[in-house]
Amino acid sequence: MAKLTKAEAKKHHEAEQLLDKPEWTHEDREFFTQHWQESANHVNTTAGAFFTPLDYAMDVALDVGPGKIVDLCAGIGTLSYAAMLRNGTENVDITCIELNPAYVEIGRKMIPQARWITGDVFQELPALSERFEYAVSNPPFGRIKAEGAGPRYTGASFEYKIIDLAAEYADQGTFVIPQQSAGFQYSGVPYYERKEDGREYQKFVKQTGVFLDIGAGMDTTSYSKWHGVAPRTEVAISFFDNLIPAQQELTA
Ligand SMILES: C[S@@+](CC[C@H](N)C(=O)[O-])C[C@H]1O[C@@H](n2cnc3c(N)ncnc32)[C@H](O)[C@@H]1O
Repeated sequence: MAKLTKAEAKKHHEAEQLLDKPEWTHEDREFFTQHWQESANHVNTTAGAFFTPLDYAMDVALDVGPGKIVDLCAGIGTLSYAAMLRNGTENVDITCIELNPAYVEIGRKMIPQARWITGDVFQELPALSERFEYAVSNPPFGRIKAEGAGPRYTGASFEYKIIDLAAEYADQGTFVIPQQSAGFQYSGVPYYERKEDGREYQKFVKQTGVFLDIGAGMDTTSYSKWHGVAPRTEVAISFFDNLIPAQQELTA
């Protein structure tokens, strides 16, 4: 568990006190996402559990329209909350799936309107028998251990497993992923450029047929700092339109 500065610890304590409040205002949510330090009570390096900053999530939500939305590895639900703010509460039907029950409990304060499921996204969950218009996810990055996988991709990268899985349940997806996994570079570089030479990226595309590209958002380096980490990320979208059947790789 990470050591906090005195100022961080003070704000974190104030954020903790919000947990006793039955209903949160938007300002409470802003304060909580900014100051509650996920690393204070949880070992989040092994779980890949660094929450998405709210201003960043508002940018991600530019690529998420109204309708049924599933948030895979939802954490405390910041991505879904942003999608709800942009689209209007009455225009979204949100399902959040998260492994850690403590985060689910907080998530219910962040978005009481959502259906919260405590569970492993790679296991069979009744909530995932439905079809969604949008999948969103800021999954753990890299070789974080997972028991399961999506139907096509056989590698170890958690973010690719999640995208592969999302393609089964949703018409399109919006993902916060490491820049080197996106197949393009846009954030923190002078201009947009495809970068498709990574071995794992090529394996992912070959096995799934998923094409990732930039959405409507901005250079992600312009948003708030993450708590305790500084990942170079991209917001990648996919329409899953050339998805190939499981067990069958692209030959071209
Ligand atoms: C980067 S964080 C999510 C951030 C989220 N967007 C937020 O702002 O709260 C990744 C989350 O994935 C969860 N997670 C990891 N493996 C999972 C799994 N197999 N099924 C469901 N959730 C999982 C972690 O507990 C963590 O909360």
